[in-house]
Amino acid sequence: MRNRFIQGRDFGSPDLLALQTEELAAPGPGQILVRHSAIGVNFIDILLRRGELARDLPYRLGLEGAGEVVAVADDVGGFAPGDRIVYAGGPTGSYAEARVLPAARAVRLPDGIDDDTAAAVFFKGLTADYLVHRMRPIAPGDTVLFTAAAGGVGQLAVPMLKAAGATVIGTVGSEEKIAAATGVGCDHVLVLGSGDAAERIREWTGGRGVAIAYDSIGRATFDLSLASLARFGLLVSYGWSSGDVEPVALAHLRDAGSLFVTRPTVAHYIQERGDLIAGAERVFAALKDGVIRANIHAKLPLAQAGAAHELIESRASQGSVILDPR
Ligand SMILES: NC(=O)c1ccc[n+]([C@@H]2O[C@H](COP(=O)([O-])OP(=O)(O)OC[C@H]3O[C@@H](n4cnc5c(N)ncnc54)[C@H](OP(=O)(O)O)[C@@H]3O)[C@@H](O)[C@H]2O)c1
Repeated sequence: MRNRFIQGRDFGSPDLLALQTEELAAPGPGQILVRHSAIGVNFIDILLRRGELARDLPYRLGLEGAGEVVAVADDVGGFAPGDRIVYAGGPTGSYAEARVLPAARAVRLPDGIDDDTAAAVFFKGLTADYLVHRMRPIAPGDTVLFTAAAGGVGQLAVPMLKAAGATVIGTVGSEEKIAAATGVGCDHVLVLGSGDAAERIREWTGGRGVAIAYDSIGRATFDLSLASLARFGLLVSYGWSSGDVEPVALAHLRDAGSLFVTRPTVAHYIQERGDLIAGAERVFAALKDGVIRANIHAKLPLAQAGAAHELIESRASQGSVILDPR
């Protein structure tokens, strides 16, 4: 089967990504072959392209996609040609018309959830799901801080946090994103770079600070997130969109209120098939119940994968960006 896919020939700028063609092999043991109808773009793809994650050259990109199963290896049960599926996780390579992937990464897509929606919310929704439901339970009265609240993960995590009973302070990078952050349920919105953010957070929490700070921005917001925590607060440092963070002195965590810090990855939270399925079921249920919805900022042709990256890295996107492989 003739296939078109995106290849990165070097690490660096988006123009290093180019469309290539290949003859696609049949699925090997444990694999299925899927023809994509929609592909999700995630910030981690950008980190990989920039060379901030270990990879060999040349490389493929993309950790999620939705589409139809075309072929199934003899040893794979549970999937058949014609099934609608969505998947998340490695190995990379979803920026393609079609691909083979481990069947263990795929989940059957329920009726009522279209492929664009699935590609827009699956990886980001599984991330929001573990952050909200598996990290530390939200206690009644908890206020939390969530950075990049108008972004892809943010627009899914904030409504999940609200549904779990939290009061949410969301950060955005500009005034234009305030409406998106309040639209998904933020009780307070902090525009980064405008005024004394730490003071605003103390005001909004009656001087106590937040129970949990979910920080995906990294270098630019890490100190603020740490300073925003109440006693016994938890800092979840799950991304570094602005650059990686410096090490933290453990004594500081003691002095600042016996704080907790974790640096998690969704890869571990969906590593076991049972965890992937349970997370997927919660994400599908949240979609069906109207708790979350896919906010697709842009759908670009596969060949414009570099432009999709530029949209996200320039902080211009709100919600998800997906690619159209057809
Ligand atoms: N650890 C995990 O399990 C896991 C899983 C998935 C994603 N992530 C991380 O979660 C974050 C969100 O991912 P996403 O795909 O949904 O992206 P996104 O939130 O749609 O885009 C990143 C956002 O970060 C903010 N930002 C602040 N400073 C930035 C800078 N210097 N450059 C670029 N963006 C900056 C921007 O929002 P404002 O302009 O509003 O500040 C931007 O919209 C990323 O850091 C990603 O790596 C982690």
